[in-house]
Amino acid sequence: MNNIENILMCPNSHENLKIENSEVRSTDNKYCYKIEDGIYRFLNEIKSSETENVKKFYMEDPFPNYNSFDNLETFIEKMKNNSFINSISKILKPGDRVLEFGCGTGQLGNYLAANGHSEIFSADLTINSLKLGNEFTKKNNIKGINFFECDVFKPCFKNESFDLIICSGVLHHTIDPKKGFNNLLKMLKKNGLVIIGLYNSISRLKNSSIKYLSKIIGDKAFYLFDKVYRAKDSAARNSWVKDQYDHPLEKRYFFKDLHNWFDESNIEFINSIPSYNNRLPFEKSVSKGDKIDQFNIQLIDLIENDEGGLFTFLGKKN
Ligand SMILES: C[S@@+](CC[C@H](N)C(=O)[O-])C[C@H]1O[C@@H](n2cnc3c(N)ncnc32)[C@H](O)[C@@H]1O
Repeated sequence: MNNIENILMCPNSHENLKIENSEVRSTDNKYCYKIEDGIYRFLNEIKSSETENVKKFYMEDPFPNYNSFDNLETFIEKMKNNSFINSISKILKPGDRVLEFGCGTGQLGNYLAANGHSEIFSADLTINSLKLGNEFTKKNNIKGINFFECDVFKPCFKNESFDLIICSGVLHHTIDPKKGFNNLLKMLKKNGLVIIGLYNSISRLKNSSIKYLSKIIGDKAFYLFDKVYRAKDSAARNSWVKDQYDHPLEKRYFFKDLHNWFDESNIEFINSIPSYNNRLPFEKSVSKGDKIDQFNIQLIDLIENDEGGLFTFLGKKN
């Protein structure tokens, strides 16, 4: 990994940072942050009580959970079969610098690094999630990934530092998703790619129905109607149920909302999951749909989506 120092910035003063042993200092000497067990700890205070609640939520149940029997081989095999992760592998070029903001336990980053991508930056608000990711990295001797405890509203990376930024399942759990999105774009290089995953207002209605049913028939509702729940082992089921049905802060969006965000920030829409043209893979450019296409795609997704109503856009910074 190239010199990390060159792309770090003080989240408080925006000064350059200097790495000294197990500390990172701002060049004006006003701020100092710890590096603990290899994790850069940039979060010294959270001002918003809502963000504090979200952090507390994930501190108790880091998401997603590593399977207790995962070794590197079974982990890679499992991740390889995930179509979203597969699509990301296809977008990446050798030497690309990748940031995942809201990485949770860093499974995506660990997978990419284990497959030879050596510039992976995994950042999250929740230290317990980062510790799980970091433990897996060390246990399996994975190189090329670093973990950062950091808030998307107080980023620790300089502008225009990354070729690809991924932020999936995160912004809808924050106090100001659009501001978080704009912060991510600042860190993206010109011509860089951005992947954003948000809960969809229509396809997440399935989740609301299951949640409602669970109040009447209990956990049977998850077993009967939630395919992802059924496929997990008991520890992973627990963290899935909490994340999906018991979250303290959740917002939902339509396709048109994310199209507007992209248009307003001059991000060229490339493709989405679900896609307007299902025959073309995620990395191929498709034209964006009109209102009727948008309605149809979200309605079909309500029926077909088993991943909690998450939809994903890929775009390019012009
Ligand atoms: C549902 S998990 C998604 C994890 C991962 N992206 C995935 O798809 O498996 C949401 C993550 O967003 C993180 N998060 C929430 N608010 C954040 C913020 N303001 N800054 C950075 N991370 C945040 C949480 O700590 C949590 O790990």
